[in-house]
Amino acid sequence: MQVAWFGKKKQKADNDIDLNNIPRHVAIIMDGNGRWAAKRGLPRLAGHNAGMLAMKEIIKRADVLGIKYLTVYAFSTENWKRSAEEVGGIFGLLVKYVASELAELDENNVKVHILGDYGSIPRAAAASIERALATTRDNDGLQFNIALNYGGRQEIVRAVRQICYLVE
Ligand code: FPP
Repeated sequence: MQVAWFGKKKQKADNDIDLNNIPRHVAIIMDGNGRWAAKRGLPRLAGHNAGMLAMKEIIKRADVLGIKYLTVYAFSTENWKRSAEEVGGIFGLLVKYVASELAELDENNVKVHILGDYGSIPRAAAASIERALATTRDNDGLQFNIALNYGGRQEIVRAVRQICYLVE
């Protein structure tokens, strides 16, 4: 499985990592894309694209290293305040990512989960998510959680609703 992602050469680069001390769960906030782009005089979307490319590599590395759970905080409820162009571009990247990577994720036994409410994201992105969830449903390798349209306030509301449902 490991060779399927990288080939033998790149695995040697992991030599400086303590393989006896690999965390079970790694969570990453996908922040700093805009600043990365600004520093280089590039549009913000170029930063998001670079962030997505980094995420692609991280998933592969995490799997090779035997990390069981990888969570990426990709789009919060606050992020809707950004320009329509930026929001559309971010979801466009998600569609592009699923189109180009889903087969390989599945081949490598990765299971995709979504945290947050993806019902209200643009239709093409929601369809890509549905496809990723259905395709990887039975996989039991790396558990890849994507937090989308997530937020503290929303989580509290959902928890209270569930409690109300339980005590009814
Ligand atoms: C925060 O950087 C990043 C985002 C709001 C979007 C990140 C999401 C993607 C690149 C798409 C991910 C795709 C998948 C499949 C999960 P920022 O703009 O807040 O950076 P800044 O703080 O430097 O301005």
